[in-house]
Order: sequence, then structure tokens, then C-alpha cells
Amino acid sequence: MKTAFVVYCSPAGSTRHVAEVIAASLKENSVTVHTLDLGSAADPAPFVEQLQAAGEGGCLFVGSPVYRDVAVPPVMAFLNQLPPVSGLAAVPFVTWGGATSGLALWQMGQALQGKGFVLAGAAKVLGIHSMMWNDDSPVGQGHPDADDDRQIRELVDRLAQGNASSLSLDTLDGLSAEDSGEVRKKLDGPWQNVPKTIDEEKCTQCGTCVQVCPAGAVALDPLPVFGATCFDCFNCVRECPESAIASPVNFEVLHDKIRKRAEKFNEKPPTQIFV
Ligand SMILES: Cc1cc2nc3c(=O)[nH]c(=O)nc-3n(C[C@H](O)[C@H](O)[C@H](O)COP(=O)(O)O)c2cc1C
Ligand code: SF4
Ligand code: SF4
Repeated sequence: MKTAFVVYCSPAGSTRHVAEVIAASLKENSVTVHTLDLGSAADPAPFVEQLQAAGEGGCLFVGSPVYRDVAVPPVMAFLNQLPPVSGLAAVPFVTWGGATSGLALWQMGQALQGKGFVLAGAAKVLGIHSMMWNDDSPVGQGHPDADDDRQIRELVDRLAQGNASSLSLDTLDGLSAEDSGEVRKKLDGPWQNVPKTIDEEKCTQCGTCVQVCPAGAVALDPLPVFGATCFDCFNCVRECPESAIASPVNFEVLHDKIRKRAEKFNEKPPTQIFV
């Protein structure tokens, strides 16, 4: 591998952490690295042009959190708008909150193969559950940790040293036939957002919600209004200093549901590399 491209979306920071470990390990292996954060306002066009020009010896690493068992819309939109490529390798990676990693890796792998990439590897990394910021003992607490980082570096070292053959897409579908069928239905459906409302008494129009939104979905008019690109990361709700953004989510019920799903799926190992 000569040149690597690392693209990711990371509302709460775990996927960014993994992307940074990947980039650092690649550089230690003398690989040139280009990075794109899909949550920033950066224009993806130069990154995509460099990717197209890379040819053989190029590898695209794509990272997404798992939301509702699938990859997040900004990542899938990025993959779907990529031009077809030839001779390039790809490595999808996800962080998940300990409930289930669902079909996210498989979904990203399928989109990458559809564009002509060869799947050289993949990674699933446990992260603190980002819907549990207001819970005393969130699922995935403390992750990604040092051992997760070690596994990511191992994956990169093996790929950079050329010790990898192409992966089959089936390897990335870890769900049972029954669960896989249920989740697969979500892949074709629209992304349903939770409605959010502003408490006019509390909102100071400070603009924090605009700054922390990774989808450019919030505008002040003069109170915040939410646009169609929202994908429910809850950064705005979490970061609002006045707790002025309300949603119908009952966090106690949600946290209970997350714990029950973690027990039901009991997905092991929580962090895994595929190569
Ligand atoms: C709306 C939403 C849905 C989520 N759905 C799942 C899920 O289905 N399974 C799971 O294990 N974690 C789920 N999570 C947790 C995230 O996948 C996990 O915390 C991830 O590491 C967050 O990545 P980030 O820190 O890069 O944003 C969800 C989080 C959010 C905000
Ligand atoms: S972060 Fe909260 S207080 Fe600030 S503009 Fe947004 S909703 Fe209003
Ligand atoms: S509007 Fe809020 S919940 Fe929606 S994507 Fe932006 S920060 Fe996330």
C-alpha cells in the first residue's frame, strides 16, 4: 500500500478516534495518508479526485458509527456518490455501542464492492454508546480502549505489509438469518428522524447546536430550525448549554432497551478485525 484515504463520520468522537489510530499506524508504515471528516464543512471533491488518481496501491478506509443497526446516512451518501474505481482496495470500519453492530459493515462493504473496490479488510470496534451520555454506566464505557487500538494497529500493519487477501462480503454479516432479514428491510426504507422542538424560554440563540451538528442541519432563524439532513446523532441535544432542545425520547426507557439488546445479541468479540 502506497497511499491511503481515511474518511469517516463521527458525531460523538469514537469513530474519529479509530480513524486517527488508523492514520497514525499507516504513517508509521510509510504510507501517505489523506483524511476527510464528513462532519466538517470540507469539500469532499479534492479527496475524491486524489482517490481516483491513486490507482493500484491505493486503499480507502471508511468509518461509520452504527445507528439503528446500519451505517449513518452521510457515510452511505459519500459511498453512493463515488465514481466507479478499478484496482483500489477498501477497508470499512464501524464503531458500535454494544447493542448490535447489525448490518453496517456488510452494507458499507456491499456499496464499496458495487463501486469496484476490493475488500482488503474490515474492523468492528466497541465504543461508548452515544445515546447514553446521560447514564451512570453506559454500555461500552471506556471504549475504544488501548486493546481496541492495538487490534486496529495490527489490522493496519498486516494490510500495509501486504499480508491480506480479498474478503468475502458474507464475512461481514454477523447476524442470524432471522435478525438479518429484519435489519435488511431497513436498508431500503427512509431514515426516520425523531422530531425536535425548541423551548423558546430557554434558548439563548447561542449557536452551539449549529456548530456541533455534523450534518449542517441546524440554522438560526432566529431560533434553531432543523433541516432534512439531520440523522439524529443528538449532538445538538447533548451539547445545548440550556437544555433547550426537547425530543419525545424517554431516555430511561431507551437505556433499558439498549441494555436488553446488548444482552440479547451478546455479540462477541466486541472488537474484531477481519483480514
Ligand atoms: C441514534 C443512534 C443510534 C444508535 N444505534 C446503535 C445500534 O443500533 N447499535 C449499537 O450498538 N450502537 C448504536 N448506537 C451507538 C453508536 O453506534 C456508538 O456509540 C458509536 O461508537 C458512536 O460513534 P461516534 O462516537 O463516532 O459518533 C447508536 C447511537 C445513536 C446516536
Ligand atoms: S445550543 Fe441550545 S441555547 Fe444555543 S441556540 Fe441551540 S438550542 Fe438555543
Ligand atoms: S440536527 Fe442535531 S440530531 Fe440532527 S444531525 Fe444535527 S446535531 Fe445531530
